Amino acid sequence: MANMKTLKLTQPDDWHLHLRDGAALAAVAPATEAVFARALVMPNLKPPIRNVEQAMAYRERILEVAPKLDARMTLYLMDATTPEDVIEAANHPKMIAAKLYPAGATTNSDSGVTDIEAMDPVFAAMAEHGLPLCVHGEVTHQDVDVFDREARFLNEVLNPIVARHNGLKVVLEHITTTEGVQFVQSHETNVGGTITPQHMLLNRNALFQGGLRPHHYCLPVLKRERHRAAIVDAVCGGDHRFFLGTDSAPHAKGAKESDCGCAGVYSAPNAIAFYAEVFEAAGKLENLEAFASLNGARFYGLEPNEGTITLEQVETAVAAELPFGDTVIVPFRAGGTVAWRVAN
Ligand code: NCD
Ligand code: ZN
Repeated sequence: MANMKTLKLTQPDDWHLHLRDGAALAAVAPATEAVFARALVMPNLKPPIRNVEQAMAYRERILEVAPKLDARMTLYLMDATTPEDVIEAANHPKMIAAKLYPAGATTNSDSGVTDIEAMDPVFAAMAEHGLPLCVHGEVTHQDVDVFDREARFLNEVLNPIVARHNGLKVVLEHITTTEGVQFVQSHETNVGGTITPQHMLLNRNALFQGGLRPHHYCLPVLKRERHRAAIVDAVCGGDHRFFLGTDSAPHAKGAKESDCGCAGVYSAPNAIAFYAEVFEAAGKLENLEAFASLNGARFYGLEPNEGTITLEQVETAVAAELPFGDTVIVPFRAGGTVAWRVAN
């Protein structure tokens, strides 16, 4: 191990994370707490987190099982959300965004927004009071091809919102396309984008590699190789508008390996190692720290973390399955290996 390559980073944050609740929360939150200082916790519980009181009660449940994780919370936007709801959130230091799920776009989005234009008063209040809008950027019409839903959303929905609301900060979550990259890059300020490990490592062939692969199914769905390559170019190239958001989204093994399997990839236990693989393959390891630890904090108006972590380039086994309440979960790259690990 004398010549083992190591990389010291400011402690990273995960700006897009699903922690669920109850036994599932207890099973997954420690993996994030072990590496990340802060996490932006998504509100798509059943029922969703629709006000500050519910978010703070959820935050307490997170702290019970992951006391070192500084969970930052999001409000779930619904048709019924009012400007007062978002102003209350904007005034709470642990509430740092509201999440827009177009109704029906993804897991637990049934209560999402059905008429996005009708939300203009809410978006106006967010712009005025400085609460960023995190967006699941896909149209939901069944007549739009599933691979085109992100690009269509940007043209038809998100660009108009940004144009109508000067000063609104927007995060395009889990970017999967060249159009998503270009959308972020076409805005000098106020627009950022999160990127998952799977959308940097895999293209849509991975959904069908040797058979149907449910553990590679997430939303937005994996895209063509040219999209993956464009994401890697922009992100590893050091564009400060992109930052780490794993979208780690745990589902029980049986719910994934099913006749109608759930969308979501569980990457939290090895997430930082997967990103390190991507940056190293691009020859841009020196840009990992800004992506993982600096760009997101800057976007949200927060200081970088004070601690550090050290990555070691050691081939490390990925568990085939992990405990998940009274069932199990299959993590990203289950049973394989990853080229990096976090030093103890
Ligand atoms: C997420 C989940 O399971 O909560 N699933 C996913 O495929 N990404 C929801 C989401 O972020 O779309
Ligand atoms: Zn998500």
